[in-house]
Amino acid sequence: MGETITPVRERWWKEAVAYQVYPRSFKDSNGDGIGDLNGVTEKLDYLKDLGIDLMWICPMYRSPNDDNGYDISDYHAIMEEFGTMADFDRLLEETHARGMRLILDLVVNHTSDEHPWFLESRASKDNPKRDWYIWRDGKNGAEPNNWESIFSGSAWEYDETTNQYFMHLFSRKQPDLNWENREMRTAVYEMMRWWLDKGIDGFRIDAISHLKKEPTLADVPNPENLPYAPSMVSHLNYDGLLDYVDDICGNVFNHYDIVTVGEMNGLDAVHAEEWVGENRGRLNMVFQFEHVRLWEPQAGLRPTPAVLKKIFTSWQEALEGKGWNALYVENHDVTRITSRWGDTEHHWRESATCIAAMYFLMQGTPFIYQGQEIGMTNTRFASLADFDDVSAKNKAKDLKRMGMSDAEIIAFLTRTGRDNSRTPMQWDSSPHAGFSTHQPWLKVNPNFEMINVENQLHDPQSVLNFYRQMIHLRKREKALVYGRYDLLLDDHEQIYAYSRLYGDERFVVLCNMSGKAAVWDEEALTLEGAQCVLANVAEWEEGYRLRAWEARVYKFS
Ligand code: GLC
Ligand code: CA
Repeated sequence: MGETITPVRERWWKEAVAYQVYPRSFKDSNGDGIGDLNGVTEKLDYLKDLGIDLMWICPMYRSPNDDNGYDISDYHAIMEEFGTMADFDRLLEETHARGMRLILDLVVNHTSDEHPWFLESRASKDNPKRDWYIWRDGKNGAEPNNWESIFSGSAWEYDETTNQYFMHLFSRKQPDLNWENREMRTAVYEMMRWWLDKGIDGFRIDAISHLKKEPTLADVPNPENLPYAPSMVSHLNYDGLLDYVDDICGNVFNHYDIVTVGEMNGLDAVHAEEWVGENRGRLNMVFQFEHVRLWEPQAGLRPTPAVLKKIFTSWQEALEGKGWNALYVENHDVTRITSRWGDTEHHWRESATCIAAMYFLMQGTPFIYQGQEIGMTNTRFASLADFDDVSAKNKAKDLKRMGMSDAEIIAFLTRTGRDNSRTPMQWDSSPHAGFSTHQPWLKVNPNFEMINVENQLHDPQSVLNFYRQMIHLRKREKALVYGRYDLLLDDHEQIYAYSRLYGDERFVVLCNMSGKAAVWDEEALTLEGAQCVLANVAEWEEGYRLRAWEARVYKFS
């Protein structure tokens, strides 16, 4: 101990605890069954009390809602169902009044097909905005190439008006912007500045890994054994993407005191520093996906502790003393973590809190996705009609065509489907879980009478109170923000253990990521002279043994 380490610069957003709001499902303030901005404002005190400093709100812009707001038709207006610009301004003001900050979702890989830019672009081949999107002739009466959409089917949609196809990596109502076009970029930068000048505190940049496409748009050979859909190799973190990022940062981000987080699927730890290195002047953090496997066939499967140790440790080590990153285990695109990695049947509370301690106390800015703090779980889908997500509906059609039965499709989408994390927030045990007075747009998870905020607020042993204690511990202890991470008990098959070292201070986090008791040798890791400062059980046995899904944090001083 006492070893010197290179500290990274101290910044407010490194010390912050962040919370992601999916506005459609958070809180409905006017009884139409759809969450809205005034609902978010209503709950700011709840977030403040939890210890939240920074909020990321998913798209709330004007949108025909093909992909729940990720298809924007007007960047300067609010979705009617969510409220008005005055409601947004009040949300921002009330957030700031509580000493919290607000970042928006920046969706600029694509717009809605109803955006005026696209309406112009599709009008004629010589329209000035034609080249703002990606148009090509068909080949032999078919699509221009064999690329697949991330939401199933071809990445091309035929348009009769000009007898050409446009590219859409996501749904056919989300045409991709052409980042090669300078005028388009200028217009997008103006839009970014408009929001930043309003006083928002930064952006989460949607699908940033897809902005750059393989320039010749050549067919992919469809090799097998790729982690992603084969055509993604042509537009996932493709060579040259960083030039776009530099252009965005140089023209916009670097002129403001803001925080930026890129949604960076396809990035591995080896290249992380190029994106978030302190001296690069690029992004502050990225959301990497190695531990959750977005869009991969393995999504929703349970990784072993060994796999988790390998992935998290590689990121922690790659950025130590060089840069910063975001920490998360849930968002609106992946299934609920307690269902995925934990054990909702036998150890719901313990596994929810154990997973929490495991990821949250590493180096980085922790993000909590709404409902994660009360241990919300995946839901139950009775029929195909229960799915709302455009990607799930497209996938269901695909699988049906391949000959799968409805029951098999439901089972697959239950394991992987994004609707799992989009069910309404469970505030209390009243009808519709206190989310709304009206039948919600998506069915409430039937377990809301047991799992809800109100039940947990006054129970000292609840998941919610564990999160609250853990957040307050991190706020008290700089070592848990800036300290160096070291993996401990490397080869232990059940326990994920690591230390955080900061000057003379050292913390040890111990998590039994299994449903069986786990022991370790004192020689491998001693707790001599340490004090337990956080645990997810009321009482623990002294000694080198953790019960199923038990987590403890020790302070050495
Ligand atoms: C990102 C979003 C996801 C959306 C997609 C297209 O992955 O997180 O929800 O469907 O981009 O915008
Ligand atoms: Ca509403």
